[in-house]
Parts: sequence; C-alpha cells; structure tokens
Amino acid sequence: MRDPYPLYAELRGQTPAIYEPERGIWLVPGYAEAAAVLRDHRSFVSGDGATYESALDRTDRYPLIETDPPEHTRIRRAVQPPFARAEIEHLRPGIETAAAEIVGTAVALGEVDAVPAVAQPMPDRAMELLTGLTPPSCQALVDWSDAVVRAQEPAANPRHTELLLESLTWLGQEGIPGLPAHCLGRLIMESGGATGGLAAEGPERLMTLASIWLAGVDSTGALLGNAIDAFIEQPDQWELLRERPDLIPNAVEELLRFEAPFRVFYRRTRAEAEIGGVAIPAGATVCAVLGSTGRDPRQFPDPDRLDVTRENARTHLALGTSIHLCLGAPLARLEATSMLTELVRRVRRFERTGDAVRSPSGTMRKFDVLPVRLVAA
Ligand code: HEM
Repeated sequence: MRDPYPLYAELRGQTPAIYEPERGIWLVPGYAEAAAVLRDHRSFVSGDGATYESALDRTDRYPLIETDPPEHTRIRRAVQPPFARAEIEHLRPGIETAAAEIVGTAVALGEVDAVPAVAQPMPDRAMELLTGLTPPSCQALVDWSDAVVRAQEPAANPRHTELLLESLTWLGQEGIPGLPAHCLGRLIMESGGATGGLAAEGPERLMTLASIWLAGVDSTGALLGNAIDAFIEQPDQWELLRERPDLIPNAVEELLRFEAPFRVFYRRTRAEAEIGGVAIPAGATVCAVLGSTGRDPRQFPDPDRLDVTRENARTHLALGTSIHLCLGAPLARLEATSMLTELVRRVRRFERTGDAVRSPSGTMRKFDVLPVRLVAA
C-alpha cells in the first residue's frame, strides 16, 4: 500500500498479461498492453463490470462506466456537451475563487492535515458548481465517493454498500428536489441530457447524475493529496514550478502519470482474446494496472522521478483512453491547475510534520492523513 511501485516493476518484467489465481484475474501492468486493452472495447467489454466485482449478477449497470456501445454512445452523447472544454471554462471564476479561499485558509493555519484542508474541499466545491447539488457536508460527499469505489473491491465491507445506498437516497429525496433552476442536474433529470437521449423511465437519469457526481470527488482529492506528497519528496520540482508557473498544466499531467489516482480499472472478455501474445480465455476478468502504466520505462524514461518538464507526460492513462476516457477530465484539470496556481503563489515549500497515512483502498491511491506545514512565500 505504501509503495506498490517495486511490485509493479516486477510484474512488468513478467509476461504482458499475468494470471493471478487467488483473485482469478489477469493483470496487465505494461503501458502499451493496458492501452491496447482499453482501446479494444469490443474484445474487452465494460458491460460485465469495470471493477473487481463483476456486474453479471446485477440487472442494472452504471450508465457510462459499465456500458458498451451502442448504449454507451447514446448516454455519453447526452452528457458530453456540458463537459466540452469551452463549457467547463464557464466554471473557471468559481473554481479559482474556491482555490484562493481554500489555499488562503490553509496557509493562514500553517500546519494542517492536507487531506481535509487542501485536497478534499476543491472537488466538493467544484461538484456543486458543476451539478447544482449541495451535499449535507464535504465529509458526507467524501465518504460517499470513497464508498462507491470501495464497495466494488475485494475487501469491501457492508458499510461501503450502506453509504452507497445512503448517497442515492439523499440524491433522490433531497439533492434532486433542491436543485437550482439552471444546472447540469436538471438538464439530466428533466431533459434527459443535451440530446434528450437519457431514458425517462427507470433509474437511468438518476444513476447517470450519481455517477458523474461521485466519480469526480475522491479521484480529484486523491490527485491533490498525492501532489503535495510528491512535492515534499521532490522539493526541486516545487522550486522549479515556482520559478516557472507556465509549467503548471504539464505538472498536472506529470502528477497524474506519477501516481495514477485509480490504480486499476477492469474489463471482461466474452470470447477468447489476446494481450501481447498471451491468450486470454472467454469470461476472463482483465485488470489494467493504471498505476503501473505510468511507471513503465518503455513509455516514460526514468519513470520514478517526478519531472514537471516531461515532454510526453500527457500520454499517461490515468484518465483512461478511448471511448471511456474520463468525462470529467477538463474539470479535473481545471481544479488541479487552479489549486497549483494558488499554492505556487503562496507556498514557498511544504514540510512534513507527522506520519502520512495511505488509504487502505485497493483502487484509489490516496492519503487519508497528510500532516504538513505550508511555509508561506
Ligand atoms: C483526477 C481526477 C480523475 C481521475 C484520475 C479520473 C479517472 C478516470 C478514469 C481512469 C476513467 C476511465 C474508466 C474506464 O476506462 O473504465 C474515468 C471515467 C469517468 N470519469 Fe473520471 N477521473 C477523474 C475526475 C473525474 C471528474 C471530475 C468527473 C466528473 C465531473 C469524472 C467522471 C467520470 C465519468 C462519468 C467516467 C465514465 C466515462 C465513460 O465510461 O464514458 N471523473 N475517470
């Protein structure tokens, strides 16, 4: 959990796809092979589940992430327009104000746990600006988003499922009835998205909104916490960023490459398939180890070094690729660049003030606790 990268390197040194008998899954740790799996959505489907837990024994699917074309295409078209870069730009003033407030408060405090003080508040504010939903508290939203991911893990416990149901109940009973006049939440719930293509009957609209809302919280918070830790470990890169803030957008890509928030995403085969010359049987569970792909030296030379000037940083797979490429990517990038811009302006350096604690999640690479001193610039 603390440092999975030596194990990932060992896996990359084996065959392109490695069968793990205890969990019954095929691990794909290399960049080129994992990218090929994610791009070949006909051989490696999402409709039978994109997480460790198979979706085969459920009747409902998460509308985007657990669907394949043509269903996926219909749903994605309905929600894609509000995520166009120009549309997300409209959120910039609100996101930048939030970044200034969050960083201002943290710098004034000086010594903080960077998880609740810096990493978590930004996606909380951003998701409210995006969707129109005002959750009961930042902590509730963070717990719900964490549970959505962890309810599908091998080590899931009943509390994760309880929290997941709690979030959907809140959404139905309070979140949606309380939506403001013009917002993404209403566009989805009342109009069926930009194309009107989301089914009015059944749970499709609610589950589409829920997926978008909860997918963007834990992931972006993880990125921001990981970023601070990376700059504690490699302060020369923070100094460079302070000298050259024009590198911030590339630094965001490099941080995603360096520590992919989602360590893994899954696919399933329905017929025999092949990965890098390895035959995969029908009915197999295939795990693209995104966390490992960012450290593959065949794609990224000297991969264990954070280098904010890295030229091909943006080729990382941390936001996925192909038809399931992260819908919220422009927003995640806006949040992260806004936060780094404020931090670069106001923080000379980060100093560790206690032991950091990594989350026990097998899916999300993130901190639960990250004690740090923000030394003001
Ligand atoms: C740093 C933050 C984020 C990371 C690392 C991340 C990562 C990912 C990845 C790897 C996928 C592809 C999954 C697959 O191939 O099966 C994905 C899909 C998705 N993401 Fe993100 N994400 C982030 C932020 C967000 C945000 C802010 C939102 C919403 C506002 C969001 C909404 C979605 C949705 C709805 C999908 C499903 C897309 C589809 O299946 O067509 N994500 N994300």
